[in-house]
Amino acid sequence: MSLRERLIRDIVEGGPISVADYMMRCLHDAEDGYYATRPRLGPGGDFITAPLVSQMFGELIGLWAVQAWLDAGAPAAFRLVEAGPGDGTLMSDLLRVARLRPDFLAAADLWLIETSEPLRREQHLRLGDGPKAPKWAAALEEVPGGAPLLLVSNELLDCLPVRQFVRTPSGWAERMVGVDAAGALAFGLAPRPELQGPANAPEGVVIERSPAQEAFGAALGARIAVDGGAALLIDYGRDAPGPGDTLQALRAHQKEDPLANPGQADLTVHADFPAVLAAARAAGSITAPILSQGEFLARLGLIQRAEALTAGAPDRADLIARQVERLVDPAQMGVLFKAVCVHSPDWPPPAFDPETA
Ligand SMILES: C[S@@+](CC[C@H](N)C(=O)[O-])C[C@H]1O[C@@H](n2cnc3c(N)ncnc32)[C@H](O)[C@@H]1O
Repeated sequence: MSLRERLIRDIVEGGPISVADYMMRCLHDAEDGYYATRPRLGPGGDFITAPLVSQMFGELIGLWAVQAWLDAGAPAAFRLVEAGPGDGTLMSDLLRVARLRPDFLAAADLWLIETSEPLRREQHLRLGDGPKAPKWAAALEEVPGGAPLLLVSNELLDCLPVRQFVRTPSGWAERMVGVDAAGALAFGLAPRPELQGPANAPEGVVIERSPAQEAFGAALGARIAVDGGAALLIDYGRDAPGPGDTLQALRAHQKEDPLANPGQADLTVHADFPAVLAAARAAGSITAPILSQGEFLARLGLIQRAEALTAGAPDRADLIARQVERLVDPAQMGVLFKAVCVHSPDWPPPAFDPETA
């Protein structure tokens, strides 16, 4: 039975499911979920991410990590963690740069937080023979405490599911996935009069709440409050609370109806950075003001790194220039993508401005 058939059967038997539950089934269903069975990253796959655009992305994050560790007094032991490492490219580029500081590598205990078995295998292939052997965990809670946390993550929050709420003439309702009269998956609404939505929201407006993103922010905030450290999260998303339906399905680099092919497309939403950071602060950590990806990479020296690469390979000058443009151009990834940091007072994060609130 396909995932679509099982979803339809379950909805007919148990009633409509929330958008968050639909995302979880599509991404993580053991038999047919996108990440559980067929994640396809890269130009020949379904979507491309910043580490796959250019090695410069992971290299600059490597410099950021080494500098953060130095600024924290170069602790003799810390957990170096990547959450949602995909095919391992970012960590591979980070570790190549980190070789410049053997004491950083010696102090690091490397963990990868990954739920996808196919991607764990790719990470093992890419990183298994590297300078630091990784260990795997399915959640932050499985990474041992007792040492500062230095965590990096690119495009994880956008996979963590959201619930969607719609303003109707009779109050707030939750957008649900049900089955229509023709027996196909279809969106519908379930009344949620108890929802405290923004006052004066116009009819038809959609707001999203992600308990899973907030739980991740809270877990990071709580861990860092106890053990110290810094967590760098990069993703596409909003930097201020606001409405909008951001659910998107991508297959072979094309957008498609999120209900069209359950499990066969990547489903994403925008990261709700204000909510993630508020959860981290409520759990006891500090958060730096949000930066655009373009600004963050510029502060880390993207242009200088591109010039150095170009000097070493003049025949690749056009390609490197296009990669820089893709990462920082406001019309491409430069503004929609943002960098945020959760940290402890003794780990002031490089490139970020101090907390203002
Ligand atoms: C969009 S990919 C990004 C991969 C990589 N960071 C990159 O930038 O190329 C999302 C990654 O998060 C992982 N992932 C998705 N949901 C997860 C969860 N709930 N817990 C941990 N990892 C998850 C996926 O398996 C994948 O490795």
